Amino acid sequence: MRAVVWHGKRDVRVDEVPDPVIQDPGDAIIRVTSTNICGSDLHLYEPLGAFMNSGDVLGHEAMGVVEEVGSEVTAISAGDRVVIPFQVSCGSCWMCEHGLQSQCETTQVREQGSGAALFGYSELYGSVPGGQAEYLRVPQAQYTHVKVPHGPADDRFVYLSDVLPTAWQAVAYADPEPEGTLLVLGLGPIGDMACRIARQRGVERVIGVDRVDARLERARSRGITTIDLREVDDVAEAVRELTGGRGADAVVDAVGMEAHGSPLAKASHQAVGMLPDAVAKPLMTNVGIDRLAALHSAVDAVRRGGTISLSGVYGGMADPMPMMTLFDKQVQLRMGQANVKRWVPAILPLLTDDDPLGVDTFATHHLPLEAAPDAYATFQAKADGMVKVVLKPELAPAPSN
Ligand SMILES: NC(=O)c1ccc[n+]([C@@H]2O[C@H](COP(=O)([O-])OP(=O)(O)OC[C@H]3O[C@@H](n4cnc5c(N)ncnc54)[C@H](O)[C@@H]3O)[C@@H](O)[C@H]2O)c1
Ligand SMILES: [Zn+2]
Ligand SMILES: [Zn+2]
Repeated sequence: MRAVVWHGKRDVRVDEVPDPVIQDPGDAIIRVTSTNICGSDLHLYEPLGAFMNSGDVLGHEAMGVVEEVGSEVTAISAGDRVVIPFQVSCGSCWMCEHGLQSQCETTQVREQGSGAALFGYSELYGSVPGGQAEYLRVPQAQYTHVKVPHGPADDRFVYLSDVLPTAWQAVAYADPEPEGTLLVLGLGPIGDMACRIARQRGVERVIGVDRVDARLERARSRGITTIDLREVDDVAEAVRELTGGRGADAVVDAVGMEAHGSPLAKASHQAVGMLPDAVAKPLMTNVGIDRLAALHSAVDAVRRGGTISLSGVYGGMADPMPMMTLFDKQVQLRMGQANVKRWVPAILPLLTDDDPLGVDTFATHHLPLEAAPDAYATFQAKADGMVKVVLKPELAPAPSN
């Protein structure tokens, strides 16, 4: 089959690889019809590259049709239409039963000290082959799927794999009062969807921050107040001006480890990215390598007694944290990979023809699998109005000339 394969820093290619097969009675094989590129894939594309191996198949936002199931899988069968959550979870361990599927005790990657195994997400998360491919092997398939009806286009459901539950958890953890102010840092797919969900849940005032025209414009067109990072010296000060001097009641950080705005950290980030893996890995796991501009804005912009919800991914082990400010301001800090299956029942009723969250028109690009190498580069550069790419393995590649 054809698959999007990691070869090195900023080097992904579409290769022929062996078709996946059932290896365990709990597996299923899915024929992939839509498979997205995520901001999290950009971390593998560059800063977390030391944990990838040449030949790893990328991707963790896939949906499609069940081809085949192992003998223990009774909940789905060939022909069913399913979305595959980005984490592999069992549904029956203590963590899964407590709505913490991204910590599943059956699939935790203990040798790396990590939570649940993730599709296409490096050796840190179990080196599970990913879903940017024609076919995907789904372990723990009895639970690791969301069955959806045939009929509407894939775009209606494909964001159940990651964007919707991640944005939902971001807002749930931020827990803003309806009459309060929610600040969302970053208006990529996750931040954009978090703004939409907050509005849908009745939060009166949502302020979104980014530095990319197309992303700011998308948020504004849905009634979000925006702050353009390029136009203010100090985001937190701008937020205080909009909130009577107090700051935002709750903040979602939808930026993570690759934030713009701290040139010093950027240099160390790039330096780590260039080192041989044997040197880079201990550096990443022992030293602060993240660009913390967004996190530090969140700490500054949140009001005293407010909540910060981190959905942006961080990777360094010794990042400098402003503990005095966090303690003195009495800040609540919540974070983590989204527990996909926990939030699906709340989200499904919103995926209807009247489309209150705008999922049907959320993608800016639908492209054949072969376009992935260019799409990764364009998405990283935030160029060409690209916000969300859906790769369609069934689309023919554009003719080369
Ligand atoms: N927790 C989870 O389960 C989970 C799931 C999916 C994605 N993520 C993470 O969420 C983050 C966002 O994902 P995405 O797909 O939206 O990615 P993205 O890279 O498209 O979006 C990030 C946005 O942040 C903006 N930005 C950069 N620096 C900023 C700053 N200092 N202040 C405000 N905005 C800034 C960028 O311009 C960009 O639009 C990533 O870190 C990703 O890994 C987490
Ligand atoms: Zn994702
Ligand atoms: Zn489990």
